[in-house]
Amino acid sequence: MTNKKIEKIAVLTSGGDAPGMNAAIRAVVRAGHYYGMKVIGIIDGYQGLLRGEIVELRPRSVGEILSRGGTMLGTARCKEMMTEEGQHRAANIIKVLGIDALVVIGGDGSLTGGVELAKLGVNIIGIPGTIDLDLPCTDYTIGFDTAVNTCMEAVNKIRDTSSSHSRCSVIEVMGNRAGHLALWGAITGGAEEAVIPELKPPEVDDLVRGVIENRSKGKKNNLIIVAEGVGGTDNYAKKIQEITGVESRSTILGHLQRGGAPTAVDRMHASMMGLKAIQYINEGLKNIIVIYKNGKYDYVDLAEGLQAERKSQQELYEAMKILSI
Ligand code: F6P
Repeated sequence: MTNKKIEKIAVLTSGGDAPGMNAAIRAVVRAGHYYGMKVIGIIDGYQGLLRGEIVELRPRSVGEILSRGGTMLGTARCKEMMTEEGQHRAANIIKVLGIDALVVIGGDGSLTGGVELAKLGVNIIGIPGTIDLDLPCTDYTIGFDTAVNTCMEAVNKIRDTSSSHSRCSVIEVMGNRAGHLALWGAITGGAEEAVIPELKPPEVDDLVRGVIENRSKGKKNNLIIVAEGVGGTDNYAKKIQEITGVESRSTILGHLQRGGAPTAVDRMHASMMGLKAIQYINEGLKNIIVIYKNGKYDYVDLAEGLQAERKSQQELYEAMKILSI
């Protein structure tokens, strides 16, 4: 594809932050300079864009951020970007600033905002950044590995005390409307059950039966991971205790899952996706999402990528059940 030379690009992070976003920003800025582009950082996502909060980023501006969680640019969930007026204003600001391509690092909400801007003539290059892993067009989203390791460590710790007290522990993890963090957390933490939105939620009686069976097998503790997309964690724990007499406790892991230094896996994917984003821009590609699929970096059309079908969780769920007998 041949196109006008790309001179100026901008980068923003949007929606929930994710460990590795900084590594992606660093890669975008440095690769951008390598290919002769001027790089503008937009503060606080679309919200900052609508307020014109920008900063020029040079290779040295992104020193020392590779290993840091969060996002140096700040992020926000911007209601105004959900309105037509906000989208027009944002597109106009991009035009006035002379920005040839906007790199959006974020999850499906942020990239959906990007689709609206693309319709208004902005060249949007999406980089999947969310701990939820809920973008089916890609096998990887930045932040998932760090978050799932955090979940696993939390489950390990809860197991210690749960086991000492012979309790049932019901642990709620993030994931938005997807159950990836819950299932991975359950398999890597050795839980007996995962309650996820992709599969019909179990009745309390099903969970109770599981707890009783585990006791009869001689298991000292019982770990149940609940995805926030299903919720009801406190109620599950209360009901299990009431019916079985087994002391039960609930823990909601919450925002600690979003923080922390990114793992090597997150740094690697974030660095490669940032670099690829710039290379695709340089090749003249427009309105795409950078993805990692079947072991290689690639891209898909922005709007089409967001329509991709959600993956079935059946296989992993069955694996968890088999491995926890
Ligand atoms: O998308 C990332 C995520 O952490 C979800 O797992 C969660 O549902 C949501 O963001 C929480 O958002 P907030 O930090 O705005 O409460």
